[in-house]
Amino acid sequence: MGASLLSSTEIFRVMFIVLNTLWLFPKLASSAGITRHYKFNIKLQNVTRLCHTKSIVSVNGQFPGPHIIAREGDRVVVRVVNHVQNNVTIHWHGVRQLRSGWADGPAYVTQCPIQTGQTYVYNFTITGQRGTLFWHAHISWLRSTLYGPIIILPKKNVPYPFVKPFKEVPVIFGEWWNADPEAVITQALQNGGGPNVSDAYTINGLPGPLYNCSAQDTFKLKVKPGKTYLLRLINAALNDELFFSIANHTLTVVDVDAIYVKPFTTDTILITPGQTTNLLLKAKLHFPNATFLMDARPYATGRGTFDNSTVTGILHYEPPPKSSPSASFKNLPLIKPTLPPLNDTSFAANFTGKLRSLANTQFPANVPQKVDQRFFFTVGLGTNPCPQNQTCQGPTNSTMFSASVNNVSFVLPTTAILQAHFFQQSKGVYTTDFPTTPIFPFNYTGTPPNNTMVSNGTKVVVLPYNTSVELVLQDTSILGIESHPLHLHGFNFFVVGQGFGNFDSKKDPPKFNLVDPVERNTVGVPSGGWVAIRFLADNPGVWFMHCHLEVHTSWGLKMAWIVMDGKLPNQKLPPPPSDLPKC
Ligand code: C2O
Repeated sequence: MGASLLSSTEIFRVMFIVLNTLWLFPKLASSAGITRHYKFNIKLQNVTRLCHTKSIVSVNGQFPGPHIIAREGDRVVVRVVNHVQNNVTIHWHGVRQLRSGWADGPAYVTQCPIQTGQTYVYNFTITGQRGTLFWHAHISWLRSTLYGPIIILPKKNVPYPFVKPFKEVPVIFGEWWNADPEAVITQALQNGGGPNVSDAYTINGLPGPLYNCSAQDTFKLKVKPGKTYLLRLINAALNDELFFSIANHTLTVVDVDAIYVKPFTTDTILITPGQTTNLLLKAKLHFPNATFLMDARPYATGRGTFDNSTVTGILHYEPPPKSSPSASFKNLPLIKPTLPPLNDTSFAANFTGKLRSLANTQFPANVPQKVDQRFFFTVGLGTNPCPQNQTCQGPTNSTMFSASVNNVSFVLPTTAILQAHFFQQSKGVYTTDFPTTPIFPFNYTGTPPNNTMVSNGTKVVVLPYNTSVELVLQDTSILGIESHPLHLHGFNFFVVGQGFGNFDSKKDPPKFNLVDPVERNTVGVPSGGWVAIRFLADNPGVWFMHCHLEVHTSWGLKMAWIVMDGKLPNQKLPPPPSDLPKC
């Protein structure tokens, strides 16, 4: 593990101090957190997968990157030092960043990038969240190798609302690219075509036996009969939603996006890029005389090519003491799980329909019951004209692929929007005329319009502090219907409704769930359908919202909300830290 992580003696020292403090001040025990310091050195590291060695951008030479571990209520301070040629930023995906928007991380939205040789200290407190999140680079496609788990434990002496697991295991899905993903996206944006796809999926950085040269690079989970394990799943892949299943084992979903849910069991889960899920895995009571595969492969709805390969890990049981060597897992039969078909949209709808907030007195679902402002955004693909004297590889050779929200394909500015907003220098950086509904309504999921051109701009929506927002996200059929995992920075939202076809503003709202809808930060807009979310804009700052399929973000499926300061001092965004990078 990296030098920045606490060594076990240090952890004991910290725990000792904390325990003593808690003993002296019992009243503080459940509220005051500690500060956890990490150091992220961004450096190149040689890594070999699929018999292919390449130099990747890493944190502290680790792939995947180091774990951030904190309790709810703790402050996390991460000193990021950039030793590579690329500009870098790090985003703490799903962390609410209450009044700490300067630490959020999306490049040119909340900060200018950290340039070569520069340092930036991210400083934020984890409030009201417990479960799993993750951190990742938030500039270009660097998050293909710059990612790692954020593990949020409940406050000291606060139990989980489910059986205490014997062990906790992060299971982080990623993609492996033999090519340099930076070159892949640069080339695609130049020729207007769909970018190349990854060569493998990985679990904790390991592709598993179905790939070339990878049998040794397999994630293995060894369990003891009768014990319960907490799997902390993260989808850190760039471009692929994933199904995941473990042969002959049932999974219990207990938490999504660091919010507890009403537990339910399933054989297979679906996890989009940007989503995280905690699962309980109950090991069989007795040594099973078999070994079980855990597989993940994509759920893909678009027309473009995608990486349709499967990553495999192995679940094996600790053999009973004094068992014969034949009980070694290498000699046992291997049992494979069955995953849904690659385009199984009804599985997706069924699975997401089961998610419900816990919504009890200890963990209430504070769903906004009244709405101050309603928004209707279409999300989907579109085109831009091919530059003159060039032949493009878009849907036609005179067009380039693009993507948009309400037909605006978002253009990142060359300075950060948050600074421009805070110092009231928006001129030439952004405009506040983002359309609240489509300018030209059409039959969104019917026959697509002939004109597929998008408009391009840096437009935002401005919200007064504490606005209660309802937002309907509607997929379009332009260049094909497709599922879009939309991620909102700075907030959790409640998923109050979803459906296929076009949203009906008369018939659908009466069916909304305002009692126990799931609360999360990333939601899949159903392929050929819509989803309705509600959130309270109680966090001043500039908050990015985008498709977490990185190719769609690159094409412009992104926008930003500006939430104004409130009247009270504790409703205002503080000034930026002095080391905030400049553009
Ligand atoms: Cu996980 Cu804006 O990202």
